[in-house]
Amino acid sequence: MTANKPELYRDLSRQLSALLAGERDLIANAANTAALIYHGLPDLNWAGFYFRADAELVLGPFQGKPACVRIPIGTGVCGTAAERAAAVLVADVHDFPGHIACDPNSRSELVVPLVNAGRVSGVLDLDSPLLGRFDEIDREGCEQLVALFVEHRRQFPG
Ligand code: SME
Repeated sequence: MTANKPELYRDLSRQLSALLAGERDLIANAANTAALIYHGLPDLNWAGFYFRADAELVLGPFQGKPACVRIPIGTGVCGTAAERAAAVLVADVHDFPGHIACDPNSRSELVVPLVNAGRVSGVLDLDSPLLGRFDEIDREGCEQLVALFVEHRRQFPG
């Protein structure tokens, strides 16, 4: 899979564009995006969104086990990515101070913020039961998927 990872992300980007085309509903689009990623990328045990509500992130559509609902900005991997407005890649969640363990099986994590005109409106969170599951290709690929999602939202504000 590793050799074909960039190709896999290009394929997922094409599929995501097709899934989002013409649909404006945020929940439907976030749900389909989470499902596409969860089933399209190997070795994940959770994939989904948190959306910003003032100083918190609130759980959005996802695939995987039930998760914690509210995360303060600046807390955990998700809150840190939201605060920094930058992706956070954690090879071993036990090494990340303040990591929020929704599922004890999660060992590595990648969080990509949704940034629109400089404002963070949420995050995409991916968890894996494997140590070191995510690398720079995953970060770039997921940033591209998030960029598609955010750009689509810009066409349907409100
Ligand atoms: N581990 C995350 C919390 C969200 S769950 O993984 C779905 C964090 O530390 O922010």
